[in-house]
Amino acid sequence: MKLYLKIWRQKNNKSKGSMIDYEIDNISPDMSFLEMMDVLNEKIIEENGDPVAFDHDCREGICGSCSMFINGEPHGPDKLITTCQLHMRKFKDGDTIYIEPFRAKAFPIIKDLVVDRSAFDRIQQSGGFISINTSGNTLDANTIPIEKENADKAFDAATCIGCGACVASCKNSSAMLFVSAKVSQFSLLPQGKVEATDRVLNMVNQMDEEGFGNCTNTGACHVECPKGISLDYIAKLNREYVKANIKK
Ligand code: SF4
Ligand code: FES
Repeated sequence: MKLYLKIWRQKNNKSKGSMIDYEIDNISPDMSFLEMMDVLNEKIIEENGDPVAFDHDCREGICGSCSMFINGEPHGPDKLITTCQLHMRKFKDGDTIYIEPFRAKAFPIIKDLVVDRSAFDRIQQSGGFISINTSGNTLDANTIPIEKENADKAFDAATCIGCGACVASCKNSSAMLFVSAKVSQFSLLPQGKVEATDRVLNMVNQMDEEGFGNCTNTGACHVECPKGISLDYIAKLNREYVKANIKK
């Protein structure tokens, strides 16, 4: 396949960026999107250019680092997958592909397609943990009975990989879907009850401090989430937040 790429290039956070055109040939439809980017970078390096910076780690949909906009959609045109799981067979020979970084005030650009998503780390640090000591004295899994429905919902919430597509797709750059998943995965389990009140208050406060916008229920976050995190968790977060405020 021959492809025409328009890629956002930006030296650093201070400099002004722009879309730069690249042409690339002999791309196999079986390549992943990141492999196509690797081929492009090898070509750029051979020509003594500066390769395109993009984040990646696991390349199997687990780490959430390969975040970028592809033709205006976070993680590209396929649903329920990350950029690293996207394959070139989704595109046609001669296509033009627009590749841009995730854009949000709370995710400043570091270079090219790489953005700083440490705001998510700070939200996690403010409450995304339990204090119960589970190391060395692990109880049998069935000692504390947990309703199947709650166990399943907690598991689904825990599949959030912190990629930030929810923020990037939201017109308000809201992080509510991410925070709701992180709060819900604990609040649905007995182990998470100890810090439940402080957790939701601290995580929501940190989210606001980081400069994320408000949720206006457009649902774009859910549509673009590679893990299909449900909007129900946002409703749960709101209930947890009200409950915590009454308790405090
Ligand atoms: S909720 Fe979905 S889109 Fe948002 S960070 Fe988690 S996995 Fe990514
Ligand atoms: S590189 Fe880890 S999810 Fe894509």
